[in-house]
Amino acid sequence: MKALSLRELEAEAQRRLEPGAYDLFAGGADDEVTLRANENAFARLGLVPRVLRGRGRPQLETTLLGCRTSMPIVIAPTAFHRLAHPDGERATARAAAAAGAIMTVSMASTTAIEEIAEASAGGTLWFQLYLQPDLGFTEALIRRVEAAGCKALVVTVDSPVFGRRERDLRNGFTDLPSGLCCENMRPAGPGGTRGPARPIAFSEALSWEHIDWLRKSTSLPLVLKGLVHPADAKMALERGVDAVLVSNHGGRQLDTIPATLELLPPIAEAIGGRLPILLDGGIRRGTDIVKALALGANAVAIGRPVLWGLAAEGEAGVAHVLETLRSELERAMALCGCGSASDVGPELLHVSRWEKQ
Ligand code: FNR
Repeated sequence: MKALSLRELEAEAQRRLEPGAYDLFAGGADDEVTLRANENAFARLGLVPRVLRGRGRPQLETTLLGCRTSMPIVIAPTAFHRLAHPDGERATARAAAAAGAIMTVSMASTTAIEEIAEASAGGTLWFQLYLQPDLGFTEALIRRVEAAGCKALVVTVDSPVFGRRERDLRNGFTDLPSGLCCENMRPAGPGGTRGPARPIAFSEALSWEHIDWLRKSTSLPLVLKGLVHPADAKMALERGVDAVLVSNHGGRQLDTIPATLELLPPIAEAIGGRLPILLDGGIRRGTDIVKALALGANAVAIGRPVLWGLAAEGEAGVAHVLETLRSELERAMALCGCGSASDVGPELLHVSRWEKQ
């Protein structure tokens, strides 16, 4: 029987994956405080539905950065899909395209962006970039990504250094198994061939000047991923980026950052409707998405659930994840008396009076 929920799917994926690979996907940094907080925040916030509004079947279609999408749910960039399933990123791309959903390809994908684009066959791809201090390499990669037809660059800004993931250290999981590598990290070699992949560099020297450089280096829309401070949201507005993705990297970078859901309202206030806002971290149910939309997000992104679908059943598993969340969101909106995202607002939210005492 198919998993009834994304949590059941995680259990199925755990049964199928090597323990070290499961931990690599599931784990977070340090004490995993942030990892737990992301999911828990959704459970703590109640929904108070409206009734008898006669809105009809909820309409989920929307446009993000000029891209039509069947629902406000984007696939977040996650590394190493071939570690979850031999079909890897190709399977994810096929499932996303079939569902009319946007897939963000990780810079650390184990399939080259050109091959993912081919598998996606007309689906919408965004590309996640860790700005490399070697700007020549970064620029060459941007040209590859543009040529492959990606429609936006999602620049991850929460990783000046790599978070400390103790599960991986304990499991000795520090390198990809032989035969797998970060295919986008192969530089151009002689005669159009590609050389061996270089490691992804993280840099404490990155600054807003690099975002300015990026702005001039491409006409693709730029999404800043990993903003959690309202002061940085204001900076993003001034620097001419096109969207922000409120994210604490699924609890994998700085531990003890609060849940993204809790950080969203001040960021939405700082942005004041001038840029689209996405949020990721702990989205596991349709009701979670309603809550994020009610607090000011235009869309959400999902990380681990896609890996669980992929590990459980390849392309069909990712399709199942997207369909499960789509139908849960549709049901939750209908139960709240909402016919579209514009009906979803803070009036639906309830903070428990018992918790405040
Ligand atoms: C990630 N994430 C991530 N982010 C990014 O910008 N580049 C990357 O390569 C990766 N890789 C990655 C691998 C794995 C295994 C995980 C779990 C996460 C973070 C990801 O984009 C997203 O922010 C979180 O996964 C969202 O939280 P949930 O949905 O997993 O709770």
